[in-house]
Amino acid sequence: MHNPYLPYPVRLAELRVETEDKNLRTFKFEFLNPGDEEKFAYMPGQFAELSVPGQGEIPIGIASSPTEKGHVLFTVNRVGQVSSYMHNMKEGDIMGIRGPLGHPYPLDKLEGKNLIIIAGGFAVTTLRSTIVWLLQPENRPKYGKITFVYGARNPGLLLYEDQWREWQKRDDIDVYVTIDREAPGWDGKVGFVPAVTKEVCPPPENTAAIICGPPIMIKFTQPVLEEAGFEPENIIMSLENRMKCGLGICGRCNVGPEYVCKDGPVFTLAQLNKLPREY
Ligand SMILES: Cc1cc2nc3c(=O)[nH]c(=O)nc-3n(C[C@H](O)[C@H](O)[C@H](O)COP(=O)(O)OP(=O)(O)OC[C@H]3O[C@@H](n4cnc5c(N)ncnc54)[C@H](O)[C@@H]3O)c2cc1C
Ligand code: FES
Repeated sequence: MHNPYLPYPVRLAELRVETEDKNLRTFKFEFLNPGDEEKFAYMPGQFAELSVPGQGEIPIGIASSPTEKGHVLFTVNRVGQVSSYMHNMKEGDIMGIRGPLGHPYPLDKLEGKNLIIIAGGFAVTTLRSTIVWLLQPENRPKYGKITFVYGARNPGLLLYEDQWREWQKRDDIDVYVTIDREAPGWDGKVGFVPAVTKEVCPPPENTAAIICGPPIMIKFTQPVLEEAGFEPENIIMSLENRMKCGLGICGRCNVGPEYVCKDGPVFTLAQLNKLPREY
């Protein structure tokens, strides 16, 4: 069995600047050792510890879908020690990834349902993974209508533009991309994510919502879904508490009795309602 503390060595194959301020970059890694890609078998919603020798490890959501073979993607915001170091890495550099960690979105349990997928800011990463997975020809027929709401403060902060513009051309997903305020050249929606959610939300019957975003967005989107009649079991969220081991051992990420790394990071609102508001 693979030692969960041991990172898989990976090579940085491509580094892509995502946002105008250059603070978000997508790292495309390839596994160095044959067979490691199969061992790193993941599903949308899981995360990994990105491990940089001499710098540390940081938990980052997996942005690629397991259906995208040959590489794994992470989009990293430059905030502190490890993320800043990574932003200065060059293509060809070697580092480690440890995981996959945590529970994925319960896509198997959501079969047969309509889905509304709601993303704010750069928390869209694991939802990119989810949508790429859902739109695969072998997966798409298992789900009903799919609606995607994605918002950022301004157009320069939107990630994966090529991808969601392609999704907008499809007729098997409704895509609403919004920015907070009018901006020159922007021809899409304008308004905050909760307001757009209210406008485009499908009826709650047989529908589940998956939300990932900053706490302020979640705070205002959750009541929109509840008022629309969504049951807490059908509102699914991902938490981003501070973490260290990612394995349910160090106790860094607890919310009440739950370890966000091991029991989450994906929880239903029904589960979160039973926990202290420490997230
Ligand atoms: C499950 C999970 C998934 C995540 N996915 C992503 C992702 O896809 N992309 C991404 O850019 N970031 C993601 N994060 C947040 C990321 O882990 C932190 O930004 C990172 O650990 C910062 O490390 P650092 O060494 O660069 O900064 P540090 O030097 O450790 O800290 C610098 C700053 O970052 C803040 N910070 C540190 N840890 C966290 C944290 N866990 N959450 C929020 N702020 C933090 C500190 O408050 C401080 O202001 C995720 C976190 C979790 C738990
Ligand atoms: S990060 Fe160590 S218990 Fe969750």
